[in-house]
Amino acid sequence: MKKYLIILLASLLAACGAQDSTTIMGGEGPGMMGGGNSGMMMRHHVQVPAEYAGKTAPVVTGDALADGAEIYTTNCATCHGETGLGDGPAGAALDPAPAQIAHTTQMLADDLVFYRVSEGGTPFGTAMPAWKDVLTEQQIWDVIAYVRAMGQGNMTQVNQMQAAQQDAMLTDAVNQGAITQEQADVFRLVHTELENYMLTDTSQGNTSERESAALAALVEAGTVTQQQVDEFQSVHDILSNGGFMP
Ligand code: HEC
Repeated sequence: MKKYLIILLASLLAACGAQDSTTIMGGEGPGMMGGGNSGMMMRHHVQVPAEYAGKTAPVVTGDALADGAEIYTTNCATCHGETGLGDGPAGAALDPAPAQIAHTTQMLADDLVFYRVSEGGTPFGTAMPAWKDVLTEQQIWDVIAYVRAMGQGNMTQVNQMQAAQQDAMLTDAVNQGAITQEQADVFRLVHTELENYMLTDTSQGNTSERESAALAALVEAGTVTQQQVDEFQSVHDILSNGGFMP
């Protein structure tokens, strides 16, 4: 598993109160999660079971979004919040906290999101309910479509929050002499390009594969250099090993 993936969602880890993003790099299985919040990244990188693998979201038509909104308000908002930022009243006491799904579902592959909603936290020991016996397959896709649509409206707000958290982390690392300002700048540049790429990337597959491909494509397109990507990865390791990641 590539280590730099973790940084892409580092600020979301912060939102989930993650302490130690390094633990997920060792390829933990679901049974080894031990309730650690770093499990969030693990759950993003989990192998989608065969019965869900390769499922793709149907084209959103007709009443899908309206239906999705109703399903969301009834079943999800209490934990994931009115706007999908994980801040619903029933979610406040949960550990791990409800994900900022308006944001994370933009980046996660269709089959992974569908699997996560269908089976919930059952395979992972989290409080996320399983919806497969409550909602039909179509209803699950409708609510996913709604969450993603909501997320597009929220992106500015979420991005600003993330950028501020990332800035704070980099400033910290520079002030403590762990990295140079130059390295911080390269890191920020590659991270931004990677995130932009991932937000419009529709390829299937697990997040690590998609991110590796994204970085390769960015180098190929000349958006960033291989040297910058290498620097990005080494800064990532420094930040992660040095405990700078939120
Ligand atoms: C009882 C509170 C609760 C309710 C209700 C709930 N969730 Fe969750 N959900 C969670 C928690 C906690 C997590 C984080 C732990 C996990 O990933 O298993 C989560 C995670 C998720 C994830 C994984 C996102 C990620 O980034 O890993 C998705 C997708 C999701 N929920 C969608 C939904 C949808 C759609 C509904 C409504 C149909 C819903 N949830 C209802 C608590 C809830």
